Amino acid sequence: MKTLTTKKIKWGILGLGRIAEKFAGDLKLSDTSILQAVASRDIDKARIFSNRHNSVKYYSSYMELAKDIDIDVVYVATPHAFHFENTMMCLKNGKSVLCEKPMGMNSGEVKTMIKEAESRKLFLMEGIWTRFVPATEILIDLLRDKVIGDLIFMRADFGFKSEFNPEGRVYNKALGGGSLLDVGIYPVYLSLITLGLPTGISAMARMTQTEVDSYCAMLFDYENSSKAILESSIEADTPTEAYIYGTKGVIKLHKRFHHTEKISLTRNGELTRVYETKNAGYGYLHEIEEVNTCLRNNETESSRLPHILSSNLSTIMDMVKDKIGLRYDSNA
Ligand SMILES: NC(=O)c1ccc[n+]([C@@H]2O[C@H](COP(=O)([O-])OP(=O)(O)OC[C@H]3O[C@@H](n4cnc5c(N)ncnc54)[C@H](OP(=O)(O)O)[C@@H]3O)[C@@H](O)[C@H]2O)c1
Repeated sequence: MKTLTTKKIKWGILGLGRIAEKFAGDLKLSDTSILQAVASRDIDKARIFSNRHNSVKYYSSYMELAKDIDIDVVYVATPHAFHFENTMMCLKNGKSVLCEKPMGMNSGEVKTMIKEAESRKLFLMEGIWTRFVPATEILIDLLRDKVIGDLIFMRADFGFKSEFNPEGRVYNKALGGGSLLDVGIYPVYLSLITLGLPTGISAMARMTQTEVDSYCAMLFDYENSSKAILESSIEADTPTEAYIYGTKGVIKLHKRFHHTEKISLTRNGELTRVYETKNAGYGYLHEIEEVNTCLRNNETESSRLPHILSSNLSTIMDMVKDKIGLRYDSNA
């Protein structure tokens, strides 16, 4: 990998949809980043996107972006089903990658992507921005210091109402549709950093006519008998909060918990502290800075969101998919 030390990190964005727009907005707030080029399958769309973002270089194919020697890292912002092929193409062309969540459609894809990055000594990270918002650091400290005692159980949900559209990304199976992969990943991620790997998994889902889950309910069991109750939905707005219960208290991550700016700590039945934080930009700036720091330090993975975590996350989601009979075509 190139030595980058203190120079600005040159970003490319692959796939110019909704999240790419927000991400490009946050890149502008980063003193350590330059948006170098963007790529869409549609040249007009690429040009219009470029016009909104400092008239950066734009391409009408993802391959041209992957081959641009002036780019250090590519942000892959396509629907889930293409993360594997888009990321592999970037890696094979010597680019580090920040890949939107879920990194792959299954653990086979995720492991292959990680292996490819490692063999090329390139940086690869899944875009779980939750890990880098300031509130998550507070949560991790509270859990490390056992402020609520031994953990007993947690519950977390993420649901939003998306009108049924069999062609759209959220409901279309060919694009990786369904609630688990789109938003269920956040409660599952929270359970992983809070309680670790489950030893048992139960799950039930409501399926759509497009054969994806519109609602998924999960119950995880752990070695010490603690439990996690997790839910996801794409057909109803749900509180999107998280509660972690321990022998001495409760930690509440307020709505929307995956990029919360408020944590309440209740100990022995009394609200003892409310932590208020402020996310920068839309909240993606924190993960952007993490990627830049890693690249400047010549690191090939983030110690805060390491490859093993993405691998474990995809393994757990595979187990949930098995339980609810959710199957997608796979690349690996
Ligand atoms: N971290 C977060 O907060 C967050 C939030 C929302 C979504 N996401 C993730 O980001 C990814 C993209 O989500 P999004 O909401 O931005 O989706 P979107 O608005 O539908 O945009 C996806 C883009 O992917 C490209 N694409 C390539 N092949 C496609 C195909 N066959 N059909 C449709 N689009 C195709 C298109 O870009 P071109 O036409 O320019 O090629 C499209 O604009 C998803 O994996 C999702 O999980 C993350």
